[in-house]
Amino acid sequence: MSVSALAIQAFSEIDDQTCEQRIQAAREQLGERLVILGHHYQRDEVFQHTDFAGDSLKLSRQAADSAADYIVFCGVHFMAEVADILSRPEQVAILPDLSAGCSMADMADLNHVEKAWQELASVLDPDQHITPVTYINSAANLKAFCGSHGGIVCTSTNARSVLEWSFSQRDKVLFFPDQHLGRNTGFAMDIPLDQMVIWDYDQPMGGLSKEQIDQAKIILWKGFCSVHQMFQPEQIDNFKQRYPETKIIAHPESPFEVCQKSDYVGSTEYIINTIRDAEPGTRWLVATELNLVNRLHEQYKHEGKNVHFMSPTVCMCSTMFRIDPQHLLWVLENLLAGNVVNQIKVPEEVAEQARLALDRMLEVSS
Ligand code: 13P
Ligand code: SF4
Repeated sequence: MSVSALAIQAFSEIDDQTCEQRIQAAREQLGERLVILGHHYQRDEVFQHTDFAGDSLKLSRQAADSAADYIVFCGVHFMAEVADILSRPEQVAILPDLSAGCSMADMADLNHVEKAWQELASVLDPDQHITPVTYINSAANLKAFCGSHGGIVCTSTNARSVLEWSFSQRDKVLFFPDQHLGRNTGFAMDIPLDQMVIWDYDQPMGGLSKEQIDQAKIILWKGFCSVHQMFQPEQIDNFKQRYPETKIIAHPESPFEVCQKSDYVGSTEYIINTIRDAEPGTRWLVATELNLVNRLHEQYKHEGKNVHFMSPTVCMCSTMFRIDPQHLLWVLENLLAGNVVNQIKVPEEVAEQARLALDRMLEVSS
């Protein structure tokens, strides 16, 4: 069917309650042709409509296993790209709002990474000595770069197994874009801090000397998550003065000092499962995105578990927040009208190499 797409403007004024009813109706009509995947950072009004929720690894697996014609991804751009890469060619991945990117993913681009690879070649042969590892929070062409240079993708769940695999291939790792995940994981594997150097992509040779590169085990890209970098060790100290019994749990995108002071460090799924399995009456200070922490607070207060957000200031992921019920409804009613809007399609030559790096990751984390 070829009809002109329904315009988003007509949806932006629809109130949340009407959206909720119409989204439910659209889901019923689309039936098994549709699957809605949602990341844990999605706001409640969207999260309630997901068929599957998860962290990046779980959602990647879900996308790879789904039989639906349409995979609507309530998350950010790189997640929908991964869904497109791992699904069958005839399946369609959709991101309800194309402006839902990830500011950390944007901190590494292919030009800068290729330049780094060339500059490193003046010190050693990178294809012999360095495994490139990209966090899944990155553009598809960086995953393709890793695929074609013997590298791999990681998520916050499997970063350690991925690094172990990487060191079994070559003696060094170039880790991008998140320095914190790289440093926190490397340190937990007993790699000393002085063997993890920062590659500053704005400086020649990353701002490093030949000796620093020679001695490094992990070269960390100078990227970070603007949400998680708001968490500070003083926030833990202040809170513990009031409630010394508090358990601290942090996402590994948080700064090193925060993770060092935490009792538990792991992905969003790990954080959820740890608090779910905790004893009633326990108190938790959590370093991850606000929508998830609020949901955990609401979910477990009836079991007497006290869940608190670590930062005194609000830090939400503003791009995850761009997915709202109005955009979700717009996408679904367009599908019912025979239109695909906001499809995410990775060019096949990029997807093929990126799939190599993603498949290595899925293999290592199985
Ligand atoms: P998880 O894979 O742990 O859900 O993390 C994704 C993310 O973007 C965290 O900022
Ligand atoms: Fe990206 Fe940070 Fe948002 Fe996660 S929380 S999607 S890393 S900006």
